[in-house]
Amino acid sequence: MKPNTPYPIPNRCFSKRTALVLGLALALTAFDGRGATTSAHAHGEDPPKTAPTGMKMKQDHSGHADSGHSHGGKGRSLTVGATVYKHMCIFCHGEDGNGGGKAMAYLYPWPRDFRKGVYKHRSTPSGSLPLDKDIFETISHGIPGTAMPAWENALSEDETWSVIDYLKTFSNRFKTEKPQKPVQPGKTPPTTRESITQGQKIFKEMRCARCHGTDLKGGGPIADSLYDIWDHRVFVYDLTNPNTFKFGFAKADIFMTLSTGIDGTPMKAYPHLTREERWNLASFVHSRIQQDRYRKAKYEVDLFSKKIDGDIDIEPFGDMWESVPVKNVHLIVLNARRDPITRVEFQSVTNDQQVGFRVQWEDPVPNRSSSRHQDFKDAVALEFALGDVLLHTHGHNEPFFGMGNREKPVNIWQWRADWQQEIETKEELEQATGGEGMDMDVMIFGGEVNPVESLNPFRDVPIEEMNAEGFGTLTPQPKTKQNIRGKGVWKDGKWTVTFVRDLESLNKWDIQFKKKQPILIGFAVWDGLHQDRNGRKTVSMWQRLILP
Ligand code: HEC
Ligand code: HEC
Repeated sequence: MKPNTPYPIPNRCFSKRTALVLGLALALTAFDGRGATTSAHAHGEDPPKTAPTGMKMKQDHSGHADSGHSHGGKGRSLTVGATVYKHMCIFCHGEDGNGGGKAMAYLYPWPRDFRKGVYKHRSTPSGSLPLDKDIFETISHGIPGTAMPAWENALSEDETWSVIDYLKTFSNRFKTEKPQKPVQPGKTPPTTRESITQGQKIFKEMRCARCHGTDLKGGGPIADSLYDIWDHRVFVYDLTNPNTFKFGFAKADIFMTLSTGIDGTPMKAYPHLTREERWNLASFVHSRIQQDRYRKAKYEVDLFSKKIDGDIDIEPFGDMWESVPVKNVHLIVLNARRDPITRVEFQSVTNDQQVGFRVQWEDPVPNRSSSRHQDFKDAVALEFALGDVLLHTHGHNEPFFGMGNREKPVNIWQWRADWQQEIETKEELEQATGGEGMDMDVMIFGGEVNPVESLNPFRDVPIEEMNAEGFGTLTPQPKTKQNIRGKGVWKDGKWTVTFVRDLESLNKWDIQFKKKQPILIGFAVWDGLHQDRNGRKTVSMWQRLILP
């Protein structure tokens, strides 16, 4: 691997923030967490301030007929759109918009194939083209529960309108058709006990449970046999979990989903129900959402390391950590699932010699066994971009998020629950043998540990340091270069893991920590319960980390 070479791309068409996420192509992000009341796609409420509406129908200079509901700003240009697409979307959506980008193999649901011109999120009736404004909302807010990032902070308004124009060139529908008039939800009626009861009745009559299950958790009898029009399996999400609603979980959003349907999928529109019936249904579904499970987190945050004088405590519940500020980072779900981990809590401290990190995430079931039959364990990784990946000023030359890319290596520190378990078992065994070292026979043949997947008897740290330069290039550093310490503890439905390293390292494959100089850090979480392993994981996009 060679050190990173800058990747100059004309900066002028990109906003400053763009620099941060671009090139990560997999700038995996999403939902910055809109609340229950002001949800991601609050139809019927004020349009997002970034999306001016009500413009007159006109031709913009890209030559596309405007839908009449979008911005006709001067900054809208097909050339800019193409550039944005090639740097930020192509990796998933593919060169010709067919949804077959390089990352596709790692994702479920698949990135959208734009060629049919069928859009899931619309304010227009089922079967209609979307308004530009609808696509604008999707691009800005991302699609929770999927790998589709939220680009709101990464793209300027003009860049977003421009890329919309570019997306539209993938389908002839936009040349020959006009979107129909949008559905107006009007004012949200109050939720009453009566409306919920009525809604539940309609839920039964419409047989929504066939797909969603009577408990709304997605386990209906035909849920596992559904396909979309792009010939892909469709996942039915848990409607009681607010974190994976794609198009907002406010009552008005649900009303809109029921009125317009999710085109391309078996989720049809119900325009044949009266408005009142749809509102009642929305009241019912909304009443089943476990609002307290909503996990607010930003997809792009500046992280800071706090300067301390004393020692860094490697103990996950050491008192030292109590006074360190916590930042929440949003995780993107690469593989659809019912209870994804959507957030990590991050803390960091620095003293004269060392830097320490503490990462916490909710995981109700710890998977840490190193038995051969249970191949999937919980794990977390911190990922650092190596080399000259200057932010903001030098353009978007960061490595591809997933695993770095060629000539843009990343340094990965991975903690694994099974290694942690092995170490603890070993310590117990040592104690049992009166501190005279462990009895290898016991360990291998009679101990609690499965001999086949055998613990590395020499491992004394549950963390491994690796490098990667793209998928399939993950390489552990030699034992002599491993220089991270740390520890993980599962307690009260949560993993808490620490990482500590000396600030200085002579290894060129290690991240160099320099005072006041921002570096790029990313997170990955593997959930054993969901059979995560290798590329199957939840990830954050790059965050900026600033040392004191
Ligand atoms: C990391 C992969 C990834 C990247 C990068 C990505 N997308 Fe997506 N995108 C997806 C996935 C996955 C879906 C499908 C989600 C679904 O079907 O629910 C999607 C869906 C969409 C949709 C369809 C919305 C609808 O209503 O059907 C639009 C529009 C879109 N993406 C635009 C973009 C644009 C513009 C960019 C670049 C600025 C981009 N995407 C970058 C993964 C990605
Ligand atoms: C034939 C199967 C099927 C039936 C019947 C069905 N749905 Fe769905 N529904 C789906 C699928 C599939 C999705 C997810 C589509 C996707 O993620 O792209 C979905 C998504 C939803 C969503 C989530 C929207 C979001 O923002 O993520 C709501 C709410 C919903 N359905 C409500 C209902 C209600 C209420 C009924 C009955 C009136 C119903 N569904 C009937 C298959 C069905």
